[in-house]
Amino acid sequence: MAISDANTRGSWNSKLGFILAAAGSAVGLGNIWGFPTQVASNGGAAFLFIYLICAFLIGFPVMVAEITIGRKTGRNPVGAFKALSDNKWTYALIGMWGVICGVMILSFYNVIAGWTVSYVFEEVFYFMGMQDWATYISDTDNGPINAVFSTIFMAATVSIILGGVSDGIERATKLMMPLLIGILIIMIGWVLTQEGAGVGLREYLYPDFSRVGVDLVFDAMGQAFFSLSLGMGALITYGSYLSKKENVPGAAAYVTLADTSIAFLAGLLIIPAMYMAQAQGVAIFDDSGNLLASTSLIFQVLPQLFHELGGTLGMVVGVVFFLLLSIAALTSTISLLEVPVSFAIDEFEIPRKKAAQIIGLGILAISLIISFNTSLIGIFVIIFNNIGLPLGGLLICLFLGYYWKTENALSEMENGSPGIRKTLFAKVWPAFVMVIAPLAIAYNLWTALSNLF
Ligand code: TRP
Repeated sequence: MAISDANTRGSWNSKLGFILAAAGSAVGLGNIWGFPTQVASNGGAAFLFIYLICAFLIGFPVMVAEITIGRKTGRNPVGAFKALSDNKWTYALIGMWGVICGVMILSFYNVIAGWTVSYVFEEVFYFMGMQDWATYISDTDNGPINAVFSTIFMAATVSIILGGVSDGIERATKLMMPLLIGILIIMIGWVLTQEGAGVGLREYLYPDFSRVGVDLVFDAMGQAFFSLSLGMGALITYGSYLSKKENVPGAAAYVTLADTSIAFLAGLLIIPAMYMAQAQGVAIFDDSGNLLASTSLIFQVLPQLFHELGGTLGMVVGVVFFLLLSIAALTSTISLLEVPVSFAIDEFEIPRKKAAQIIGLGILAISLIISFNTSLIGIFVIIFNNIGLPLGGLLICLFLGYYWKTENALSEMENGSPGIRKTLFAKVWPAFVMVIAPLAIAYNLWTALSNLF
């Protein structure tokens, strides 16, 4: 119950609360920005198809693994690996790596999230005729502006985490997720009736399988991992607040379905909108015929489209679009911050409020450095997303499969789904966690490492 959430570890009030919070963690900039732009530059539905395979066949089993470890131990990632290994610090390092990745991913994610808020203002200024202000505020390389909006975004994230699990995270995501889905659907309905949207729809849904190759599979799997929030113990943490009454694979299936559905819907919005912009005379391809880089698509092409629309309509669509991005980002930053905060609460017995404030400030300090040096984002993405998450995911699978054992994990899953051992899931899941997912993830890790040299 939520009575003393701020003083206890906390727990979800309902299964729906957990699913919405975990789906909120999953649905973020990765879905609304990353996924559609990757689809657009990777052969349309061919990428979608490979992405769905990665999400359901690799991502889903790993998600079940993370949630089960969390619920079994009722601990943050470091505490969870300690608990399952009789306090062996070597295994606790897997959790520690997760906490580090969380901190570092949040530090740059927070800067990008800040851009989504600054663009809400950009649209308002533009349509109020304050073009100079609009141009100034929309420069993503502007250090002071980045610093201001990163600070605002971190403050919002911390204020939710201060409230605890059910009164903070659960309550906020219960409000924001329906809002996000509502905005998304209304915007899709509007975009699809506009000129040029049909071309975009065809580009999106018509698969060009000649584009499927090593690179595409690498991108699709990385995208699935990041989008499902896997590999760093975010779902170990969220799983640690889940009641023993709930069905773990069932909840994980809902979260995977929600995440992939919202990515699919975001594609229905962004790709037709890009071609709608083209119909309005906005350039969406560079000189060599490739689609503009993803940052320019979201932060240049779409604002230009909104400006072309003009009038109240342009402003409303522009503001609402960047609000949508901000909401998606906020439900994700809270999951990233909750990981180090739960680590501090469990392992050092620091009260939640203090932990959230200190860790929030520490991560903001890194965000401020990135605000003034945005080229760091690319480096952080390579180290912590492209390498860090698959490394963490691989270690989680190997730990569960070969040390803790899938047998014990299935016993934990029997809480909430007593008949699980008779299901097909119980028969195939061990093979996925022990062999299929590790091989696929190792392949991705290897590709990420060889891309470095
Ligand atoms: N999944 C989020 C997105 O798509 C980002 C995110 C939130 C994340 N928490 C995470 C990624 C934990 C990896 C691990 O934008």
